[in-house]
Amino acid sequence: MTIIVTGGAGFIGSNFIFHMLDAHPEDRIVCLDKLTYAGNLSTLRDVMDRPNFRFVRLDICDREGVYRLFEEEHPDIVVNFAAESHVDRSIEDPSVFLQTNIIGTSVLMDACRKYGIGRFHQVGTDEVYGDLPLDRPDLFFTEETPIRTSSPYSSSKAGADLLVMAYHRTFGLPVTVSRCSNNYGPYQFPEKLIPLMIANCLNDKPLPVYGEGLNVRDWLYVEDHCKAIDLILRKGRVGEVYNIGGHNEMRNIDIVKLICRALDKPESLITHVTDRKGHDMRYAIDPAKIHRELGWLPETKFEDGIRRTIAWYLEHRDWWQEIISGEYQNYYEKMYGNRGTV
Ligand code: NAD
Ligand code: TYD
Repeated sequence: MTIIVTGGAGFIGSNFIFHMLDAHPEDRIVCLDKLTYAGNLSTLRDVMDRPNFRFVRLDICDREGVYRLFEEEHPDIVVNFAAESHVDRSIEDPSVFLQTNIIGTSVLMDACRKYGIGRFHQVGTDEVYGDLPLDRPDLFFTEETPIRTSSPYSSSKAGADLLVMAYHRTFGLPVTVSRCSNNYGPYQFPEKLIPLMIANCLNDKPLPVYGEGLNVRDWLYVEDHCKAIDLILRKGRVGEVYNIGGHNEMRNIDIVKLICRALDKPESLITHVTDRKGHDMRYAIDPAKIHRELGWLPETKFEDGIRRTIAWYLEHRDWWQEIISGEYQNYYEKMYGNRGTV
């Protein structure tokens, strides 16, 4: 099989490529990535020379380029990870989120319709369900929970999901959608909570916690997410949505304190800064459907996953130091430089 993986130079896409090349060496993987600020070719260095791997620098919004690639590769499956993925950036400038996340997804699906495809899989997020109140720990997101978005990011991802389901109903495109909770692990861009806090700790910089840090996220080790997608591709029912999450809810402040402890840094580095606009309080996935239908369960406990993740960032300083020393510095200054403390 030939599988096009879009956004494969980013965090989850690259981990997915590593998983697939290991688990299914008989398949050919074509990575399509625009290499935005979030895409790093160095991440794919170890697989670049594999005979069953090809990297193509391309924007998923570039219709001609995408069609040309489909003519060359005749893919059996497309897995769409390519997206603008950071909520804070979407608050600064929503437009590129609408372009890539919605228009780009439609271009990929048009190519799938034109050239034929076995499966189009859309990698979605639990953020499309909005948030849950902190005082109702009995509530979880199921696949039936109404879409109710908070940020331009989640709205653009919800728009993409709706379009994917519409292409299934209207054109019969064989699609699946997964909606996963927050991921952590190797190669996550250091603008996201966990790698940002690890990098700042290691550089003895303040740790900017939004508001009181009581917001809850449901953390899943990236490899478990990749295995779930692989399972959906092989055994999932076409036209279905699958939620992915491991019942691992943590408050932001507790994660940051845990990272301080693991790296032997003082909690006095923690700085409470002005809250994110529209900040979702709690995400919590009910993964019963994917467990019941496909037998998926998370394999990595949080304490093991976070230890491995911290060790990875310690061993791969060159990877993230290079990122935070470049253009990212301007972003950091813009987002955190004038942010008030609370
Ligand atoms: P990321 O920001 O690390 O990587 C995104 C990748 O997409 C980058 O390599 C980037 O270069 C590429 N890209 C961006 N725009 C493109 C375009 N127009 N054409 C081609 N490539 C483009 O993101 P991530 O954290 O790996 O997330 C991957 C997917 O998973 C996203 O769709 C995201 O919404 C979803 N998701 C992420 C999480 C999470 O916790 N990170 C959780 C659930 C779902
Ligand atoms: P993030 O990693 O951006 O993921 P998402 O917003 O998609 O869940 O943020 C995770 C949580 O951490 C979220 O509640 C916002 C918070 N946060 C901070 O407190 N400080 C930070 O510097 C960042 C980036 C996030």
